[in-house]
Amino acid sequence: MVNVAISGLGEISRLHIQGVLRSKHGKLVGVFSHSYERAKEIASIYGVKAYKSFEDLCNDKDVDAVIITSRDEDHFPQTIQAAKAGKHVLVEKPPALTVEEVEIMNKTCEKYNVVCMPVHNYIYTPQILHLKEIITNNELGRPIFAFASIFHKIDEEVAKRYHGTLITQAYHLIYTLLFLFGDIEYLVGYVDNVSYSKYKNVDDLAIVILKFKNGTAAQILSGWCCDDLTPTSWTWMVKVFFEKGVFTFNSMESLTYQQPASYYQSRTIDFQKTFYNIVSYFIDEVLVNKKQPLSTMKDAVRTFYILNTIKKNANLGKIII
Ligand SMILES: NC(=O)c1ccc[n+]([C@@H]2O[C@H](COP(=O)([O-])OP(=O)(O)OC[C@H]3O[C@@H](n4cnc5c(N)ncnc54)[C@H](OP(=O)(O)O)[C@@H]3O)[C@@H](O)[C@H]2O)c1
Repeated sequence: MVNVAISGLGEISRLHIQGVLRSKHGKLVGVFSHSYERAKEIASIYGVKAYKSFEDLCNDKDVDAVIITSRDEDHFPQTIQAAKAGKHVLVEKPPALTVEEVEIMNKTCEKYNVVCMPVHNYIYTPQILHLKEIITNNELGRPIFAFASIFHKIDEEVAKRYHGTLITQAYHLIYTLLFLFGDIEYLVGYVDNVSYSKYKNVDDLAIVILKFKNGTAAQILSGWCCDDLTPTSWTWMVKVFFEKGVFTFNSMESLTYQQPASYYQSRTIDFQKTFYNIVSYFIDEVLVNKKQPLSTMKDAVRTFYILNTIKKNANLGKIII
């Protein structure tokens, strides 16, 4: 059995808890929240411990692994503390707020000999794994052009809890394309705020064109400015044009849940399943069966570096006419 504790009990922690419960070898043993009341409430539902501090969680000898689903700013300090206590870590994205921090997380986990996996959950989507197989086996010839999007409305008050659509959403698109096509050669980016009036420093639109070293060209679209509920929605889509065919994955085709969520994407089965899949992969395949993770902190460093480069250079080549 792998005893797992969860840190951070916001919206997305529910899916991680389900992931632990659905895994073969995982057992939920405790939860931590900055609000002890909340920790006690969730702990009582699952019959597990509620920790008063993150330190208490790390000092608990029963805990083998921690899933960090706290807010973005806590990922770095909590991962370092957990690694030093000898706990394996599955950390939500973005794993930290700078490339340097992600590098330190990677090195610290190596030093303390614990696994640290970033939540690159989109590559655990069955359709993305199928697409990877098509590319690896050259089933449709060379991939020529790809389009990937995460595009939905997030209200300003929700958006302010995160760090902009580029770091929050384009992060997923970049690691997914790196997983599919390998490293990139160059990029051109556009990052903007086109819909928010109160939090002007939160970007709600990012469009990036990338050229991969394998020759594939790609465009990514990441936005919090509009919802697309049409049948051919761009809410979460990956489309790849090959020499001999086209692969399209549109997550909104399986929109089924009607319960409230702060954004539409989180109502799709595909989205929810990515968490169950990555949590079981972390527990059952990596920690128990000693398989290599599909996503590593090195991938996270590269993804973050690319995002930083986009942010720094976006809009520089603006041509005013
Ligand atoms: N991989 C994905 O597809 C995906 C999707 C959504 C979110 N995420 C990531 O998952 C993490 C959690 O997001 P979420 O959607 O669950 O957001 P959320 O509902 O806003 O919860 C955010 C976290 O902030 C913490 N928090 C709230 N108020 C706090 C305060 N005053 N002081 C300290 N901590 C506070 C909560 O932890 P406490 O229990 O400690 O209060 C909670 O875990 C974020 O890093 C986000 O980027 C990833």
